[in-house]
Amino acid sequence: MTIFEKALDDEIRAFYIPKKPNILIQIRHVIDDRESTNADLVAVLLSERYLSSEILEAINSSTFALDRKIQNIQHAVSLMGKHAINDISTAILFRRSVIELRSCLSLEVFWGDATDVANAMAFINKNHRYLLSDEYTYSIGFFHDCGIPAFSNKFDDYKETLIICNGEKCNSVTLEVNKYNTSHTVLGYLIATYWGLPDDLCKIILHHHDIDFLSKSRDINEQIGFSILKLAEHFVHRNKRYCESPDWQHVKSDVLNFLKLDIKKYIDLEQRYCALIC
Ligand SMILES: [Fe+2]
Repeated sequence: MTIFEKALDDEIRAFYIPKKPNILIQIRHVIDDRESTNADLVAVLLSERYLSSEILEAINSSTFALDRKIQNIQHAVSLMGKHAINDISTAILFRRSVIELRSCLSLEVFWGDATDVANAMAFINKNHRYLLSDEYTYSIGFFHDCGIPAFSNKFDDYKETLIICNGEKCNSVTLEVNKYNTSHTVLGYLIATYWGLPDDLCKIILHHHDIDFLSKSRDINEQIGFSILKLAEHFVHRNKRYCESPDWQHVKSDVLNFLKLDIKKYIDLEQRYCALIC
């Protein structure tokens, strides 16, 4: 057993880690098979009740802003491609796997926030045509805090921990490590790895509260994903809570420079984001 597998094994024993559903394993199998066709993927998607209709609902949402409505899953697979369908399916199936979890937090509120960040990321990416796909940026936003449901399941005082951090306007990592000896970023990384999310996405989850990550990383996908995530978090915070996101003051200058957003473009982007969701 490698050190990573040992760590994963220990964390899985200590926390509730949602199991990967069989349908996701089948989807990945089709995608990894170079001989497979779109029809093979469609057959797998149609074998699971509700999944294809949930995929269509997601694709036809304002997040992806398609020119016309996609009516069936065959059309969705041919238009979006297998990898995009995999990203969207993974998000749907993960949310399903934890929605019923016992939790000291409202998971409905949690997923509302995660979905808002995911939508904001896809919006920013679409508007400035960065190198990542809209569905991939959506996945980063959707999964970035995926360790939190497992924390709120295990620790009954986790809500109080987050309230303290909100009051101090800081992220929760330091207090989590002090109180629980691990953090939602580490647990999120382990969950994302177990669910087979791409390596760069897993690393963004692990480092999403590391204010120096942009200068430490040498991977362009990680740098773009991290930068869009921090900007999206900030937009959502400003819009829902009327204040800056906890890390924004520390990363603002580097993130805006990296995304090539001067103050005029930044203000314009935020105004268009607000107009879109209000
Ligand atoms: Fe976080």
